[in-house]
Amino acid sequence: MEDRIISAHLMMEEQTMELSLRPRYFAEYIGQSLAKENLKVYIEAAKMRNEALDHVLLYGPPGLGKTTLCNIIANELGVNMRTTSGPAIERPGDLAAILTNLQEGDVLFIDEIHRLHRTVEEVLYPAMEDFVLDIIIGKGPSARSVRLDLPKFTLVGATTRVGLLSAPLRDRFGVISRLEYYTIDELTYIVSRTADILQVQIVGEAATEVGMRSRGTPRIANRLLKRVRDFAQVKGDGIITLDIAKAALASIQVDHLGLDEIDHKMLRAIILSFQGGPVGLDTIAATIGEESQTIEDVYEPYLLQIGFLQRTPRGRMATPAAYQHLGLPLPASK
Ligand code: ADE
Repeated sequence: MEDRIISAHLMMEEQTMELSLRPRYFAEYIGQSLAKENLKVYIEAAKMRNEALDHVLLYGPPGLGKTTLCNIIANELGVNMRTTSGPAIERPGDLAAILTNLQEGDVLFIDEIHRLHRTVEEVLYPAMEDFVLDIIIGKGPSARSVRLDLPKFTLVGATTRVGLLSAPLRDRFGVISRLEYYTIDELTYIVSRTADILQVQIVGEAATEVGMRSRGTPRIANRLLKRVRDFAQVKGDGIITLDIAKAALASIQVDHLGLDEIDHKMLRAIILSFQGGPVGLDTIAATIGEESQTIEDVYEPYLLQIGFLQRTPRGRMATPAAYQHLGLPLPASK
C-alpha cells in the first residue's frame, strides 16, 4: 500500500516536471516562427475585440509541440484549457458534456482530431459554427430536438494526419497551421534550456550533438538529453561533455542523423529484401514486425524529409542517400 502511494506520488512529480519543461508563453517557445508570429497576431486581435479566438487546427508530425502550443494559446488568452482526444469522445453525449461545461472564451483541445467518430463530428459542426448544441430528447415519435446555447469557445484541433480530416470539419477552422521540423540551432537551444531546468550541466557541443540527432523533434531531443544525463551521472562526473554525449548516443543506438534501430531495419528491409523498392507500406511493416500506422506517422515522415525515402504510387523506395548512409553498395541499375 505504502509503495503504491509513493509511486503515485512519484508519478505525479514526474508529470508536473514534464509539464514544467514545456514553455508556457510564446516568449519561452523556441522555433515554429511562422505559426507563432501569426498566432500572436490573432490572439492579440481577439483580445482587443474581447472575443473568443477563432478555431485553430495544428498539424504536423508527432513531437513538434502541438499540445504545448495549445497550452500557450490558452495562457496567452488568459483562459482555461480543457483537453481531450478524438478517440476518447465515444458518443455525442460525451462531447455535449464537455461543451456545456466550458466557460466563455475557454480553449478546448482535441488531440488526434482525425479520429473523431462521425456521429460526434456532426454535433461539433453547429457547436463550432454557431455555438449551439442540438440534442434529441426522448425516443421514437415523441422525440424532439432542443437547441442549447453554448459559451463562445475556441476549438484547437491537433492531428498528425490532416489528410484524414473530413472537408466539412477542416473548413470550420479559421486558422490552419502546419508545424515544421526544428532546425539544429533551435534544437540545440531547446536542449540547453531543458538542461537548465533539469539542473544538469551540458557543454555547447554536446547540446548540438543531441540536437543533431533529434530528428527535428523537441520531444526526441528532451528524451535523448535525459538518457545522456543518466550516462553522464553513472559513467562520468555528471557533466555532459561531447565525449559522454557521443558514447551515450552510440549505446542507445541513435546514429549521427538520429536514426534508430527501427529506421535502420526499415531501410535495410527495403534495400536488401525488396531491391530498394518500390514496396508497399504494409509489406514493409510485416517484414520488420511494426505497425503500418506507426511507420507512416512516426518513422516515414523524417526519412522522407531527409531524402532517404521516396513515396511513389507503387510503394516506398530507398534513395541512393539511404544506401550510402547504411554503407550498402548501390546496384548498377540505380
Ligand atoms: N521544449 C519542448 N519544445 C520546446 C520549444 N518549442 N521551445 C522551448 N522549449 C521546448
